[in-house]
Amino acid sequence: MNIDILLGLQWGDEGKGKIVDALSPLYDIIARFQGGPNAGHSLEFNNVKHVLHLIPSGIFHSDKINIIGNGVVIDPAVFKKEIEELGPPVSELKKRLIISTKANLILPSHRILDAAYERQKGNLKIGSTLKGIGPAYTDKTSRNGLRVGDILRKNFRDLYNEHLNNHLNILKSYDFKFEISEYEKGWFEGIEVLKEFQLVNTEYLVNELAGKGKRLLAEGAQGTMLDVDFGSYPFVTSSNTISAGACTGLGISPKLIGEIFGIFKAYCTRVGSGPFPTELNDETGILLRDIGREFGSTTGRPRRCGWLDLPALKYSIMINGITKLFMTKADVMTGFKTIKICTSYKVDGKECNEIPFNNDSHIEPVYTSMPGWDEDISGIKDFNKLPATLREYIEFIENKTGVPVTMVSVGPDREETIFRK
Ligand code: GDP
Ligand code: IMO
Ligand code: MG
Repeated sequence: MNIDILLGLQWGDEGKGKIVDALSPLYDIIARFQGGPNAGHSLEFNNVKHVLHLIPSGIFHSDKINIIGNGVVIDPAVFKKEIEELGPPVSELKKRLIISTKANLILPSHRILDAAYERQKGNLKIGSTLKGIGPAYTDKTSRNGLRVGDILRKNFRDLYNEHLNNHLNILKSYDFKFEISEYEKGWFEGIEVLKEFQLVNTEYLVNELAGKGKRLLAEGAQGTMLDVDFGSYPFVTSSNTISAGACTGLGISPKLIGEIFGIFKAYCTRVGSGPFPTELNDETGILLRDIGREFGSTTGRPRRCGWLDLPALKYSIMINGITKLFMTKADVMTGFKTIKICTSYKVDGKECNEIPFNNDSHIEPVYTSMPGWDEDISGIKDFNKLPATLREYIEFIENKTGVPVTMVSVGPDREETIFRK
């Protein structure tokens, strides 16, 4: 079993990019399996912060293969910009990065449709990143999409125009003003850049390499609570963010999966609309946002902040079959006298451990309070040297979830990562 998965257990932004980068030396291949440029994965080393949207977080390791799998939706304009701003020369990136011919394309008109649909929803808007994700996945499942392999066809321009016309027809009923020519220019430039990369049927490659004993880490995007089936629908993204998504998004059998690492923040954040039971609309929420620099990596929007939500965490662990937990951003809560942790819900006045189907249900979190810690933990390298109260917090989570916390992240840098021996 050579394939492990790392994915987010909350509403995204758990620190996936940082940890995938830190784990990359243990793997031969790092692969994205779903989502698209709605993702913003940050990683830091040598005092420089990088934010990745489409490119897997193993890209800075020169001896690794990075794969963008068939389950991802790609905007060529975003891809071009990301490649140009990354740092390593493009000639070098072409060796390290392989893209699935079966990944679907986000067209300029998908972004416009995204904006038109959101405006139509008014107060019920999803809070989408407006990168065209929903319309691109809609076209994929309704069998109207264009895929990366199509860019090599002689009649690609005609195919593009057919798709564009379909979208323009839909937009006629939306009374939505837009300007597409600028988008299109960057998009077609991006297509040319994409053509220079290795475009292959990555499902063969992945299985061949796994068969030869090579190790692959599948990198999730978004988080379990944003999964299209199991998140707070309709306030979700449009892909399966859960472990099963790695099988469909890369073309691998569940039999090949080994560890499923679930990453969570020591507290919770959410960007965009939708239910968030433990949200703090008070000074503590603002403090978490300011200290944790909780602003979206893709859109810059302030993230909503709140206490750790154990019913949601347990749900995510169940859906994904998490084997090990990784906790990030414990350092952000340093100095908090008391830390609260939600252990169950009262739904419409009744004690309940399930996340209700109905987003309108009134959820009141039931909290346990625990003492905080004052020590600066960012330089600590040994789990046993963490403050006793932080270790008690971790033990409490382990007891409630039944899954060990085997990694604690104490800062944004690659080095600020404690693996428990
Ligand atoms: P991702 O989408 O899951 O990769 O997460 P993001 O990169 O969107 O957001 C996580 C943010 O927290 C980024 O700014 C990271 O640099 C930062 N970060 C990650 N781990 C830690 C940590 O342990 N402590 C602190 N203070 N920041 C962290
Ligand atoms: P990473 O991979 C946090 C949220 C959006 C919105 C909803 C739907 O960095 O964790 P979409 O653009 O998919 O139509 O938006 O999902 N969202 C994210 N929130 N982190 C992300 O990715 C997200 N990707 C989408 O804010 O509420
Ligand atoms: Mg992010």
